[in-house]
Amino acid sequence: MPRSSSSAQPIRAVLFDAYGTLFDVYSVALLAEQLFPGQGQALSVLWRDKQIEYSRLVSASKRGPQRESVYQPFWELTRAGLRYACQRLGLELNPEREERLMNQYRHLTAFAENREVLQALKSRGMVTGVLSNGDPAMLEAAVKSAGLADLLDHVISVDAIGQYKTSPEAYALGEQATGLPAAKIGFVSSNGWDALAAAWYGYQTLWVNRYGLPFEEIGPRPLHTGTNLRAVLDMV
Ligand code: LAC
Repeated sequence: MPRSSSSAQPIRAVLFDAYGTLFDVYSVALLAEQLFPGQGQALSVLWRDKQIEYSRLVSASKRGPQRESVYQPFWELTRAGLRYACQRLGLELNPEREERLMNQYRHLTAFAENREVLQALKSRGMVTGVLSNGDPAMLEAAVKSAGLADLLDHVISVDAIGQYKTSPEAYALGEQATGLPAAKIGFVSSNGWDALAAAWYGYQTLWVNRYGLPFEEIGPRPLHTGTNLRAVLDMV
């Protein structure tokens, strides 16, 4: 249930995480199951975990005495995560299967309530946007194929700074794009770690807990929780 804080400022904009929040990253399990019977679910979970692990690895590391960035765009990390997950599960990923799975990832299923929630936010005069680790090309494809482009004022990719969430520099992009302080922005994520780090940064957060998971055992509880995106409408 949503929990409001008396000291919370009125929300003027709502930013959404993309993968897992607007787009169902586990929807690739269907094709994965066709290609690798009995392993679709396991592959989709390990693929996602590895993708996120790589994003943290490249954000936290530097190369050589010049401390050069080892950043790689999310699309490349997604492909690397897929390759790793297949090897780990002993699945033969030939180039054709890889392209089919990556293409599926480009057009992930959007959660059913997305459109009506975004429409309701727009009708209340809210600024809306996505703030995602995805690179601009993959975000554009996902937003377009879900038919959400006309309902989003901003599609913000961390690629511009070469730093993934949960870096503060990545969360700062939401303030820069909207011209609002984080305290006046609602940040919505289904990823507990993302909701937590956004709260640390200063956003008013909603954690969309679609799968009945426990919240992270460190840091503050999210200001709001819900089981699908409709909970956003109780927050604004
Ligand atoms: C994103 C991933 C991390 O969209 O879910 O930022």
